[in-house]
Amino acid sequence: MTSTDVLFRPFRIGSMELANRIVMAPMTRSFAPAGIPGPAHAAYYRRRAEGGVGLIISEGTVIDRPASRNNPGVPFFHGDAALAGWKGVIDAVHEGGAKMGPQLWHTGALKSFLTEWVPDSPVEGPSGLEAPGVERGVAMGDGDIADTIAAFARAASDAKRLGFDTIELHGAHGYLFDQFFWAATNRRTDRYGGATIGERSRFAAGVVAEVRASVGPDFPIILRLSQWKVQDFTVRLAETPDLMADWLMPLVGAGVDVLHCSQRRFWEPEFPDIDGEQGLNFAGWAKKLTGATTISVGSVGLAEDFMGAFGGEGSSTAKLDKLVERMERDEFDLIAVGRALIADPAWVEKVRTGNSSALKGFDAAALAELV
Ligand SMILES: Cc1cc2nc3c(=O)[nH]c(=O)nc-3n(C[C@H](O)[C@H](O)[C@H](O)COP(=O)(O)O)c2cc1C
Repeated sequence: MTSTDVLFRPFRIGSMELANRIVMAPMTRSFAPAGIPGPAHAAYYRRRAEGGVGLIISEGTVIDRPASRNNPGVPFFHGDAALAGWKGVIDAVHEGGAKMGPQLWHTGALKSFLTEWVPDSPVEGPSGLEAPGVERGVAMGDGDIADTIAAFARAASDAKRLGFDTIELHGAHGYLFDQFFWAATNRRTDRYGGATIGERSRFAAGVVAEVRASVGPDFPIILRLSQWKVQDFTVRLAETPDLMADWLMPLVGAGVDVLHCSQRRFWEPEFPDIDGEQGLNFAGWAKKLTGATTISVGSVGLAEDFMGAFGGEGSSTAKLDKLVERMERDEFDLIAVGRALIADPAWVEKVRTGNSSALKGFDAAALAELV
């Protein structure tokens, strides 16, 4: 059996000291109908903290813009009642022994694949496009963009004030940041658009810079990114390492400490034409190109990838040896785990103690309740 000791080395990022390399991936659970997280959220996250997770990233929680969420069960990260709920969450997680950051989110022009619900205000995005040629909502004006950037910065400083250890900006999967990155949904001709990925990164870089100014130099900022999108799994923003550097360097330059590189299967090489089928994954390339700390993710401990979960599909377990090999090479620094931690709050402790026969697969029925 593979030793998993390499996953249990401590790690420091700025002011945040982590007990191990395992991160709970952000997972929308839709249990906050009035936008307010409550005791059930605190208990849910606390269980994963007590189960040994080093760093918890919350479910996506939205900033203070009129149409920042596409699903009425998603919690707010603004307003006294929601922030009081989040205070209960972070206190519970700290008592459980983990570190935590909220995943700050704006869904932009992308509708939910779980509900037909629409917000009262018009949805907004860079160019009023949800996908190539698919119109949805309005194009953001200068004032909307400035207000959105300010709302992200306010949420980040609120997170710090409440006692969170970090924040994650959701820049992945086809939502607002990614709608700016993607040429097909960003047709702007102002400074937030452009022919190159570097130009289309200016919105995200603007958010990062303002967040950095609001939280100070030592508070870690994580940015989640993906090549793939809910709108199209095959799209890639950066087809070459040079393009990836054009995309990522301005973001790191603006103040990102950690790139959270979302893949559906962590073992898939990013540029196999260059370094082969066992080559570096997205987090590996991002670390090599930028020097930033990186988090990888995707089907850790499970055989099937996560999109099937929304259609009721579960997954059997998979071995951790490929993960351990990559961590031993320091290809990336941290590894996020999603569904395996919904299935079993004690997953980390079972891995640490080598109790692999006790590890369970994922049953999509687990999504029906927040426990
Ligand atoms: C129920 C569910 C909800 C998710 N919600 C989010 C989310 O709010 N933000 C996000 O960045 N990713 C979200 N994801 C993706 C996960 O963070 C993760 O990248 C994905 O599940 C792959 O990890 P896994 O294979 O270990 O589950 C979600 C995944 C699941 C299963």
